[in-house]
Amino acid sequence: MKSLTRFAAFVAALAVILGAPSLAAEPKALATCVSCHGKEGVGINADYANLGGQNAPYLVLQLQAFRSGERKNALMNGMAAGLSDADIDELATWYAGQPWVVADNGNANLVEEGLNRAGYCHACHGMKGYPVTKDWPILAGQSALYLDNQLQAFKSGTRYHPLMVNVVKDLEPAAMTALASYYTQLNEAD
Ligand code: HEC
Ligand code: HEC
Repeated sequence: MKSLTRFAAFVAALAVILGAPSLAAEPKALATCVSCHGKEGVGINADYANLGGQNAPYLVLQLQAFRSGERKNALMNGMAAGLSDADIDELATWYAGQPWVVADNGNANLVEEGLNRAGYCHACHGMKGYPVTKDWPILAGQSALYLDNQLQAFKSGTRYHPLMVNVVKDLEPAAMTALASYYTQLNEAD
């Protein structure tokens, strides 16, 4: 009986260790993010990015850009303003270590049109929405409304990257929505 109890305690301890979503310690600044991105990085609204499983170096660059104000968003500029470099590293590592969720919340009727327009995107974002470097974002499975908003932001200038500026120059809003609907439903690992 005693050994059975001990065995049960051992199994319980093992379950805690193996069941932990990530071995990285929970960052102290995480409490300020969960109301919108959850602990696992699943955005509570379709226009809040999914962060779980995203590339850590990319997340670091975005948090730095929100902090400096180079990337503009009313909610995120305030959130990032008080983060230290160490907070940013810890938060990026945490969210990158969570499982990636496929949002698949676009317009299913536009997926084919999106695929037809994505030829130009593959060189940088990969054939299946996984980029060629971890400094760049995974698009596969990301929330459609969020992706659509980002394409508009690159066009309007509230977000800047020299490579994306050229990409969106000739994209009309309808094409952006189709591309977002295509990328959100990609769920195959690269
Ligand atoms: C009040 C809601 C809110 C809170 C709290 C919040 N965020 Fe956000 N976050 C957003 C929204 C909205 C966006 C989309 C911004 C845009 O459209 O550019 C976003 C986008 C991001 C992105 C960009 C993702 C990408 O793919 O480029 C990162 C990274 C991020 N948030 C990290 C964090 C972290 C880390 C915290 C905690 C310190 C946090 N957020 C707290 C609302 C929030
Ligand atoms: C020459 C390389 C290049 C090409 C081609 C390109 N992109 Fe990008 N894309 C980037 C880079 C680099 C970033 C990261 C920008 C940053 O750090 O702010 C990015 C970011 C994005 C984002 C933001 C994602 C997020 O999580 O916030 C979207 C959406 C996007 N690209 C869609 C597209 C689409 C759709 C196409 C094709 C029509 C395309 N890109 C073509 C390089 C490229």
